[in-house]
Amino acid sequence: MTKLNETYTLNNGIKIPKVAFGTWQMPASKTRQSVLDALEAGYRHIDTALAYGNEKEVGQAVRDSGIARDQIYVTSKLPGETKTYEGAKHDFEETFNNLDIDYLDLYLIHAPFPWNEMSSTSGTVEKWDKANQEIWKAMEEILATGKVKSIGVSNFNVHDLTSLMSTAKVTPAVDQIQYYVGYTEPKISHFAKDNDILVEAYSPLATGRMLSNPTVQRIADKYKASVAQLAIQFIVQNGALPLPKATHKEHILDNAKLDFVISDEDMATLNDMSDSATNMYHHARQE
Ligand SMILES: NC(=O)c1ccc[n+]([C@@H]2O[C@H](COP(=O)([O-])OP(=O)(O)OC[C@H]3O[C@@H](n4cnc5c(N)ncnc54)[C@H](OP(=O)(O)O)[C@@H]3O)[C@@H](O)[C@H]2O)c1
Repeated sequence: MTKLNETYTLNNGIKIPKVAFGTWQMPASKTRQSVLDALEAGYRHIDTALAYGNEKEVGQAVRDSGIARDQIYVTSKLPGETKTYEGAKHDFEETFNNLDIDYLDLYLIHAPFPWNEMSSTSGTVEKWDKANQEIWKAMEEILATGKVKSIGVSNFNVHDLTSLMSTAKVTPAVDQIQYYVGYTEPKISHFAKDNDILVEAYSPLATGRMLSNPTVQRIADKYKASVAQLAIQFIVQNGALPLPKATHKEHILDNAKLDFVISDEDMATLNDMSDSATNMYHHARQE
């Protein structure tokens, strides 16, 4: 058993591998091989989205891997732009056909707002509440077909979660949010924990922007670990689920070696740090 096939248990009782392999900004032409490399390195959880344009290649790699379908966990996402019930049903079918892997383990609403409205949502978070409630109804119906095993959300703040849950029959299993050393969105993380919603940590390496942080480097050196390994292990020890992305095989292999434990003292230092990355975009509000 390695960290890669250890599991968390979701609020519906289903087990989910503790570390996922991210595929955002992974060109479709490289995705099949990178996912095969990740599966060979021991990853058992792959994260994609309709918006990433590489679902077909993710599905191809899962089918070509020779690993039993029920040993691989696959997540995909409904585009943030899709804000109608009918649109959600339509886009799910596209994802389902793209992947072609019998069923999807986890299906997420990618964002509570269309991406092109993101900068204007800080003062008007309520604008999409009703649409998200309708979409969630579609997600619950998709769940009931058995084509998806769990449903959840991404980029939802406390307001978005509260609004969705006020009409939901099924509580979201996860909230996938931006989360890395020095930027752990504590208001959302605490709300999620209190409501038995697993936090998935996206951009765990701040899309590469925290890899030269000297403080993190100094702590990583103590464990003879790379900054990436320390950053991923930090998230697991906080009880969240990191989704590191890598296309280079040496990075994929590096990120698979998580055989060390960060001391309580160093965890406290890392948890107290200010943003470890520069020039990272953040959503306007957590509440
Ligand atoms: N739900 C959402 O809205 C959302 C938003 C962002 C991300 N995500 C998910 O989270 C995943 C990860 O986030 P991210 O894509 O922002 O990136 P990330 O995992 O934070 O960082 C990836 C970058 O770090 C590099 N890297 C990886 N391992 C390394 C290592 N051991 N040493 C040195 N460099 C290393 C990668 O290089 P190479 O690729 O060149 O190997 C790449 O440039 C995404 O792929 C996606 O699945 C979700």
